[in-house]
Amino acid sequence: MKLSDSVNVLLLGSGGREHAFAWKISQSPRVARLFIAPGNAGTASLGTNVDLSPTNFGSIKQFVLNNNINLVVVGPEEPLVKGISDFFHEDNDIHHIPVIGPSMQGARLEGSKEFAKAFMARHNIPTAAYRAFGKDTLEEGYAFLEQLQGPYVLKADGLAAGKGVVIVDDIAEAKRELQAMLSGKFGAAGNTVVIEEHLKGIECSVFVATDGTNFAVLPEAKDYKRIGEGDTGLNTGGMGAVSPVPFADETFMRRVREEIIAPTVAGLRAEKIDYKGFIFIGLMNDGGRPYVIEYNVRMGDPETEVVFPRIESDIIDLFEAMAFGRLDKFQLKVSPRTATTVVCVSGGYPGDYTKGYPISGLDTPSESIVFHAGTALKQGKVVTAGGRVLAVTSLGNNIADALAQSYATIAQIDYEGKYCRRDIGQDLERLLKS
Ligand code: AMP
Ligand code: GLY
Repeated sequence: MKLSDSVNVLLLGSGGREHAFAWKISQSPRVARLFIAPGNAGTASLGTNVDLSPTNFGSIKQFVLNNNINLVVVGPEEPLVKGISDFFHEDNDIHHIPVIGPSMQGARLEGSKEFAKAFMARHNIPTAAYRAFGKDTLEEGYAFLEQLQGPYVLKADGLAAGKGVVIVDDIAEAKRELQAMLSGKFGAAGNTVVIEEHLKGIECSVFVATDGTNFAVLPEAKDYKRIGEGDTGLNTGGMGAVSPVPFADETFMRRVREEIIAPTVAGLRAEKIDYKGFIFIGLMNDGGRPYVIEYNVRMGDPETEVVFPRIESDIIDLFEAMAFGRLDKFQLKVSPRTATTVVCVSGGYPGDYTKGYPISGLDTPSESIVFHAGTALKQGKVVTAGGRVLAVTSLGNNIADALAQSYATIAQIDYEGKYCRRDIGQDLERLLKS
């Protein structure tokens, strides 16, 4: 089985990640038409935006049939957790159309922290020791906290828009948090709370493409989650990213492959979980030993904006190998260059912010790739439409080169309230010098 030579693609999502997918997909000579649902002002220049919600499966089916779509690529986790892949497989009209993204059962690796932890325990995958608690086991939860040393890590089991992880130093505060989470602080996502040991080390993200049996390891990346410089302030969706990560050397990556990626893919197969998609593994490097912090069942944002620009292979060839179980015969080509992305956000983000401001300077020639995240077209003009507005990616011979280019491009772009972190990648540069 293979895709036709002229592929019509439907891509679901609307962020910087999806602009990076659209950018890479539109470079393939195998693509006839690209549709993005719902997309943003950036994706509109690479394909056709369609006003459809990625979780409205019935409308997606109609669109796929009406437009002769041959391949569906899912950007965000929500449609996966809600079962879009199963919806396609179980419907006779569309079951022949490959979906890049795991089944609902596979998506539980992200959709349920308790499921992910139990999966890792079953397959001997290194991760922080943990226990899960519910409302009826609150007292046991307090007792478990007493046994741990701070900092205390508490995680709402379900999807909580990236906010479900709480780390506190004080035991009394940890107990209050546990109580608040179990009382609905994060809604139903917190009906179960995972409490785990605090891991030490440096974080990095590893990306894997799998067909359910074989896998290809994509370039790794480091992201910057906090709003403030020096990793201070509130958590965000991501303020920047760098790839490759200097400390993720060959020895470390061999351990990641052998101790984490291979047993993860083998575990999915052993449990008969259908998984043709991406696995994004958040890792802690503790003195060269890798531990899983979390799984995501999709690519990262803004990590995709540095990972995809380093991939030289045709992305439709990669999707085809994922969809039809042929990743064992696929050779991924990766550029040795360094990619950096710096995210420009709306003033006030991740708190309240105002949108709808015109963005100037987007047409100024530059070496960077300006990926749109929260943007929209209003009367033909590009305006801000979200917290994270743009991800400005550059390639260079090293981190400093690439960053200088990203910041030079950002200097040419303006909108009311523009903010970006000026210290993306600086920790890695310090590490390289030490
Ligand atoms: P998550 O949403 O699971 O990625 O968690 C958000 C962030 O919390 C991670 O990127 C880590 O910085 C931190 N974190 C999560 N779990 C742990 C842990 N067990 N030990 C230390 N830090 C953690
Ligand atoms: N950058 C983190 C994420 O995509 O979840």
